[in-house]
Amino acid sequence: MAFLHRLSKASSVAGARLIRRLSNVPENTVYGGPKPQTSNQRTTLNQLRQKYKKGEPITVVTAYDYPSAVHLDTAGIDICLVGDSASMVVHGHDTTLPISLDEMLVHCRAVARGATRPLLVGDLPFGTYETSTSQAVDTAVRVLKEGGMDAIKLEGGSPSRITAAKAIVEAGIAVIGHVGLTPQAISVLGGFRPQGRNVASAVKVVETAMALQEVGCFSVVLECVPAPVAAAATSALQIPTIGIGAGPFCSGQKMIVTSLRPPIGLMNEFVSCHRREKLRFMQYQVLVYHDLLGMLQHPHHAKVTPKFCKQYAQVGDVINKALLEYKEEVTNGTFPGPSHTPYKMNPKDENAFTKELQKMGLDAAASAATEAAAELEKTNTQQ
Ligand code: KIV
Repeated sequence: MAFLHRLSKASSVAGARLIRRLSNVPENTVYGGPKPQTSNQRTTLNQLRQKYKKGEPITVVTAYDYPSAVHLDTAGIDICLVGDSASMVVHGHDTTLPISLDEMLVHCRAVARGATRPLLVGDLPFGTYETSTSQAVDTAVRVLKEGGMDAIKLEGGSPSRITAAKAIVEAGIAVIGHVGLTPQAISVLGGFRPQGRNVASAVKVVETAMALQEVGCFSVVLECVPAPVAAAATSALQIPTIGIGAGPFCSGQKMIVTSLRPPIGLMNEFVSCHRREKLRFMQYQVLVYHDLLGMLQHPHHAKVTPKFCKQYAQVGDVINKALLEYKEEVTNGTFPGPSHTPYKMNPKDENAFTKELQKMGLDAAASAATEAAAELEKTNTQQ
């Protein structure tokens, strides 16, 4: 009985830790009743699908902890990816391989506490989903149950990986695929190398993305591939592609365009009207938080901030400057000054305190307290 009590207490504590606005809060559905989502509720897969249909862009950024998640939330980013790039940008490893599932789950939970609005996607870390389909499903389940994520992302497109993606989707978990440069596979890729640069490799990128769509992935990340390969994959898919180092042709909306020009090869024939499918690209992009903020020289691909990454700020410089200034002020005694010494005693209590110290035989301490009070009084009146 005592055991059962402890067990139920433990599970309610675990549950309480994870309370957050899930993406599956009822929309206006049979179970949800007439309760429409408001704009400050979590982004759902359905909303993302609607955006995709309407040709509205979607932004994705990685986050690894509470503050980065709050920043993404405040900026209105649609999808927050707890990437295994945490291994490099947070833990300082050279690759994404060392990070464990337990470490990823800590990142996921912190992000879930900080980001209330974006859809939350957790990466399956290397070594936690390759052995068998059931291992992959178990890991994905943990990322949702213990990490508080809404969906998972997995890398690669080998037959066993496609089977794993299918099983995870069948288990009721939304999946993002990831093709092109898959950093977890650097052992076989021979390093952080762009992919799809020859015909066979380019075809493989497109085929793998299609296979991932086929088994139910709701989106596919295309990492470090030439722009025409990304455009081809985007055109071949009916789900959004999200680019990183893949150029400006990720995710597109198919439009039927009608022109009066006859298609090439039919120049001599009378063709009054030519209909063809054209893609309007919508820019679905993902960047690593530290890279886009200019926080670190992030060695994701070439031991430096990757060439494709635009730095929207030099936050690293701001941090360094602040730390140097703090060090300088502590060293020269200007911090903490009066404006950062907020807690006061009233003069009556100050006197009584000094007397108490003297009674205790702590005369030097009593003098120190009196001198400190006088010194503060002097600087306060000078200001
Ligand atoms: O781990 C990560 O941050 C990623 C992105 C680069 C897509 O997988």
